[in-house]
Amino acid sequence: MKSAKLFGVTAIVMVGLALIAGGVTWAVLATRGSTLPPPELKPLDWWEHCVLYQIYPRSFKDSDGDGIGDLQGIIQELEHFVEAGVDAIWMSPIFTSPMVDFGYDISDFYNIHDEYGTMEDFEQLLEKAHSLGLKVLLDFVPNHASTESQYFKDSVQRKAGFEDYFMWADGFPDPNNASNTLPPSNWVSQFGGSAWEWNSERQQFYLHQFAVEQADFNFRNPDVQKEMINIMKFWLDKGADGFRVDALPYLMEADPADHGGRYPDDPLSGISHFQPHQLGYTIPLYTKDLIELYDVVYEWREFADRYLEERGGDTRVLFSEAYANVTMTMLYYGNEQGETGAHLPFNFDFITDLSAESNARDFVYIILRWLTYMPYGGVANWVFGNHDNNRMPTRFRDSMVDGLNSLNMLLPGVAVTYQGEEIGMRDGYVSWEDTVDVEACNRGDPDTYHLYSRDPARTPFHWDNSSHAGFTIGPSTWLPVADDYTEINLAKQMEDPISHFKVYQELSSLRKEKTLSHGAYDMRALSDHTLYLTRYLSSHDTLVLVFNVGEITDTIRLDRVAHLQLPATVSVSSIHSSRRKGDQITGEQLTLSPGEALVLRAAPNS
Ligand code: GLC
Ligand code: MG
Ligand code: CA
Repeated sequence: MKSAKLFGVTAIVMVGLALIAGGVTWAVLATRGSTLPPPELKPLDWWEHCVLYQIYPRSFKDSDGDGIGDLQGIIQELEHFVEAGVDAIWMSPIFTSPMVDFGYDISDFYNIHDEYGTMEDFEQLLEKAHSLGLKVLLDFVPNHASTESQYFKDSVQRKAGFEDYFMWADGFPDPNNASNTLPPSNWVSQFGGSAWEWNSERQQFYLHQFAVEQADFNFRNPDVQKEMINIMKFWLDKGADGFRVDALPYLMEADPADHGGRYPDDPLSGISHFQPHQLGYTIPLYTKDLIELYDVVYEWREFADRYLEERGGDTRVLFSEAYANVTMTMLYYGNEQGETGAHLPFNFDFITDLSAESNARDFVYIILRWLTYMPYGGVANWVFGNHDNNRMPTRFRDSMVDGLNSLNMLLPGVAVTYQGEEIGMRDGYVSWEDTVDVEACNRGDPDTYHLYSRDPARTPFHWDNSSHAGFTIGPSTWLPVADDYTEINLAKQMEDPISHFKVYQELSSLRKEKTLSHGAYDMRALSDHTLYLTRYLSSHDTLVLVFNVGEITDTIRLDRVAHLQLPATVSVSSIHSSRRKGDQITGEQLTLSPGEALVLRAAPNS
């Protein structure tokens, strides 16, 4: 019990309540009676409740007519983020690259890729973004460098200091062919084929967990670790606000010193339809999720914190990318020994564990799994798509776009948007002839490439209904523009009185309410089809999302929604809903059409 004298009001009992928001617990002073000011809430750091937008620079906006998106294109469209209510952007790699993996094969970590612009363009982008109040994150790709990088060239030549910069190893004599050498182990690349490539100049194999042209750095070499810090420091000095950190599970591999001097084979999966060169033939025991890699991540966090302490300014963040099981994912936040890692690891559960087939119970189960496993003090986040996976409406259903964006924006923590999700962009069709993604080209053939291709999620952004969707003024585009751009584009959605973009704007402005930034949550399935998410906070309006994720009309009972006191008012509705903002909801029963989502506002009930 605290003394009510705090607010100069007497005889009112205040109780310390632990509220959970974004996974963080705060002491909130709840009040009985109405003469007190609202509870004092802990101020949040800029990133803890931000809307983070992923730009795929090659496909966002082309300014010079070469059909390839660029930095000046992004600069031209920065206001889009302000209008959408986005707080921070992260750009897939913009550094010098031969573009085998469209920028994830970096040949100069300290320079801007020429098709994208110059260092001056980047500085201009930063300045304008910052003046608009937007944070800018870069994509940090530590696992590998392009084989065209100076690091790799020097390492091939065993130049002093660079001999062990990459993962070099001798092979084994081929008993069946004296002129052939066999790779050091059976490891399979993420893009198919052996993860080892013979280098005839150095007469050794090097490791590449991704494309042949993406050579894995040797993270057991302290010089490599130092260089990674140098790279981050360089971009932070320029003014970047932090990094998305790429492909972390693959950072380290088993140490031959622990395996009798050789790289151990990964165990076989035993799945008979996989050939030895195919991903899935082995279980990545020695090539993924190694516990040592987390120490590297924890050191990077120390570096980021030290940087902030020395330089001041706003927090420089690290958001880590890893597709891993929940235990190995949560370790990126930090460990039980008190070491801290990424500010957050991206949560890919909506991509990997939910789909059009999922029912309301699956949604609730998967969402609560993250919130349950997340360590104390962690900030949650929700990712619905990215440049590596089919787009959100394609994996789910068109009718679910607004409901999914509502979940994203109403769940505690950071909301992540992949470019196009704000207007419900679907996958574009890319023929085998037009396919450029290395993963599709390596793993597929004309009949199977579509199972692997990441191109459909990378087609150009739909600005308007002019030719090439307003993406370029040039005659062609690096990937085809999706056919549906005349129907789904930003200009149209800004004009239409009801559109995905308008819903997105409503949602992002709702996020400013304390109920969403600081409130507690409660979530359940009301049936196989419909779920609710309640956000509530003492003295503030309660906000409730009801979302029919199913394919049939569903009637729910609102008296089963925790913390909701009727009457409620519709605050946001999905575009096909018959309800509109301001409609009153008074009855206990509510019928929702397939995909229908409503955000309801009700008086505080505590
Ligand atoms: C990450 C990127 C992906 C890239 C890979 C290798 O998964 O998102 O696009 O191909 O890392 O860098
Ligand atoms: Mg261009
Ligand atoms: Ca590696």
